[in-house]
Amino acid sequence: MLPSEPVVAIVGATGAVGEEMLSILAQRRFPMQSVKLLASKRSAGSVVDFRGRRLLVEELTEDSFDGVHLALFSAGKTVSKQYCPIAVQAGALVVDNSSCFRMDPAVPLVVPEVNGHVLDRITKPCIIANPNCSTIIALVAVTPLHRAVGVERMVVSTYQAASGAGAAAMKELETQAREFVAGFPYTTKIFGRQYLFNVFSHNSAVGEDGYNEEEKKLLNETRKMWEDNAVRITATCVRVPTLRAHCESINLTFRGSLKEADARDILAMAPGVKIVDDRTANKFPEPIDAAGGDDVLIGRIRADLSQAPGKGIDLFVAGDQLRKGAAQNAIQIAERFVRVKAAV
Ligand SMILES: NC(=O)c1ccc[n+]([C@@H]2O[C@H](COP(=O)([O-])OP(=O)(O)OC[C@H]3O[C@@H](n4cnc5c(N)ncnc54)[C@H](OP(=O)(O)O)[C@@H]3O)[C@@H](O)[C@H]2O)c1
Repeated sequence: MLPSEPVVAIVGATGAVGEEMLSILAQRRFPMQSVKLLASKRSAGSVVDFRGRRLLVEELTEDSFDGVHLALFSAGKTVSKQYCPIAVQAGALVVDNSSCFRMDPAVPLVVPEVNGHVLDRITKPCIIANPNCSTIIALVAVTPLHRAVGVERMVVSTYQAASGAGAAAMKELETQAREFVAGFPYTTKIFGRQYLFNVFSHNSAVGEDGYNEEEKKLLNETRKMWEDNAVRITATCVRVPTLRAHCESINLTFRGSLKEADARDILAMAPGVKIVDDRTANKFPEPIDAAGGDDVLIGRIRADLSQAPGKGIDLFVAGDQLRKGAAQNAIQIAERFVRVKAAV
């Protein structure tokens, strides 16, 4: 459906995810005729280096998608709501990073390692949604075990980095570090509180049931991608003062039975993961090791002693949510369409 060298547009090109998209397109040598960088009026006219060329950032307008084959959106829900349909109407395949369309039954929600087969059904320009970053990182790790014996219950606790809240949040954490050294009061524009040397509940809205939106995304998006409404999931999402890459503690209860050694073998063979599980050296997944990488790191693999033998496993994972949790996943989705065309 995409030409072998599509015209690509990045909406939100100056943001944390947009910048990562651009660098991943270059790193993976994504075949393309040209790339168009779109942002708000604020950044229009700024210049970005790409593959040795200087590209001008343009203001997003309704005419931005003329001649565009592939539009990668990462400019927030409001922008996606207005412009994704316009891009599709103009003939572009859209991969959207916002939460706008994720739970729309007509919109595929895809992680290639989890439910990439869903992409085979797409034959014309449409919107494809990228899941929430915490969901992607958890499911790359857990889906191989789910396929093997079925997950009955999943309990997730997240340790989420500043980058998950965008470029401005990363800057504010760095600013607070400088302010600490200088003895100045903290700038608290993004989260309204001290972030450095602190840990706090995720900054998304808390609903009447006490769950915040990030936790609900993990629950609902997992069920949609696994096509399994019976799976029981609970989550607690928390911000920690790391700059980049999220960690998650994951406790699983299985429908079937799975020994720790078998879980370890399954995970070692799984796509998109790397086992970091050295008990002797006490070396397990850390955000600084996941940052800038493509894989979800998995460690602390152990049988849950609170459950009957074979019924439960604990994991600790780390993944760069700007890459696999957002930009990389979107580009992996797009690659499927370039390859399909190239193979014909
Ligand atoms: N950060 C993550 O880890 C992550 C992971 C998964 C999904 N996402 C989703 O990806 C999206 C972007 O996140 P981010 O972290 O990259 O945010 P960000 O760093 O704040 O970047 C936002 C981008 O959107 C652009 N933008 C804002 N308003 C716009 C408008 N009215 N018209 C056109 N462009 C506009 C900004 O352009 P200006 O420079 O002109 O302001 C900037 O390029 C969000 O929907 C977020 O939920 C983020």
